[in-house]
Amino acid sequence: MSKALDGVRILDFTHVQSGPTCTQLLAWFGADVIKVERAGEGDATRGQLRDIPDVDSLYFTMLNHNKRSITLDTKTPKGKEVLEKLIRQCDVLVENFAPGALDRMGFTWSRIQELNPRMIVASVKGFGPGPYEDCKVYENVAQCTGGAASTTGFVDGPPMVTGAQIGDSGTGLNLALGIVAALYQRNSTGRGQRVLAAMQDAVLNLCRVKLRDQQRMERTGQLKEYPQYPDQPFGESVPRAGNASGGGQPGSILKCKGWETDPNAYVYFIAQGAVWPAICKVIGEEGWVSDEAYATPPARLTHLKQIFARVEEWTKTKTKFEAVDILNKYDIPCGPILSMKEIAEEPSLRASGTVVEVYHPKRGKYLTVGNPIKLSDSPTEVTRSPLLGEHTDEVLAQLGYDAKQIAALREERVI
Ligand code: COA
Repeated sequence: MSKALDGVRILDFTHVQSGPTCTQLLAWFGADVIKVERAGEGDATRGQLRDIPDVDSLYFTMLNHNKRSITLDTKTPKGKEVLEKLIRQCDVLVENFAPGALDRMGFTWSRIQELNPRMIVASVKGFGPGPYEDCKVYENVAQCTGGAASTTGFVDGPPMVTGAQIGDSGTGLNLALGIVAALYQRNSTGRGQRVLAAMQDAVLNLCRVKLRDQQRMERTGQLKEYPQYPDQPFGESVPRAGNASGGGQPGSILKCKGWETDPNAYVYFIAQGAVWPAICKVIGEEGWVSDEAYATPPARLTHLKQIFARVEEWTKTKTKFEAVDILNKYDIPCGPILSMKEIAEEPSLRASGTVVEVYHPKRGKYLTVGNPIKLSDSPTEVTRSPLLGEHTDEVLAQLGYDAKQIAALREERVI
């Protein structure tokens, strides 16, 4: 079967997580992704957090499926020649170097346009234009500067970063969408363009509900669905909301049977207005349906702690899966807190290709996430990540280099 991005050639200068997330997604949609790495070391993540000595780490393998790898020193004159040929033949150059690195290498936007006016140059940077535009950035810096850390955690605790890599993988997703849009526009203009996704912007975009709450709080002085209401005062900035729901329906994480020993024996419970009578029935508080202190959503906001404590009395008598089964029968929105072990073993996630088992010649079998976006006419088959420089000869041959020239480049440590 054909793939959505068949025929699109990506010159992949990305490393670590944000950029590789983007190019892996494009590869899953069928693009030919050529990852350019320095000989010897390659992408730094190949050697980071290794679980098997001298074998590419899971960090690397899980971000670089379906790609080809070539080694190339792009700071040498001969390396630059190879890179120029690649720029002429590819559709998109993707990079997430520190600011200015591509220019320092001699490949400014105007130089790239001279070589290939149709080329799209897509970059992840930590920040957009402004005071921090020249700074290097990693995941947690983006979470801290994009509004996630100041709004995550509990009101009486320090700012907290989340386990979801919203700065890296989140920005990579944005960049992929920008590239596909630029490819589409190129169909009518014939021109390439620059695509920028800044990590601070991507995190802030995912934190929009907190910018919403900042403005609500400034107008009304309080946020009634937040845990500190009504006991604690609100300050100048939107506070950390613990496990309160970010939406218009109050929610919280509640203990389930076994919570004393199992750190994940919890359920997320949402007191959705539409199913309030059902909630009261399940927890045995039918009187709350007509009691005016509880009957309406605004009335309940003043009693949320008490309501969740009462529901928790009930959830503590059930395992998280029993609680979810019962609540789902009444259409009460809820979800079990799943551990990574439970997710890894979940058969339906394997069946849908969201969790995939891959074979790697050096590490054997391992699990990875598959494509979270499912296209009916362009199914994703996840293939293993390339070894360092595995496709150097193949790609150079496609560029017109013969075996003797390739051997000379290797001798001179260009590849
Ligand atoms: N041949 C020759 N030189 C190469 C090369 C190659 N194939 N690939 C990379 N390099 C060089 C770069 O040109 C750069 O040289 P310069 O500093 O002399 O200009 C150098 O390697 C280091 O690149 P850099 O991007 O600065 O790596 P770093 O390890 O110092 O920083 C980051 C890593 C992630 C902090 C930085 O790249 C960054 O801030 N990126 C943008 C934001 C981002 O994506 N962060 C999230 C990462 S998950």
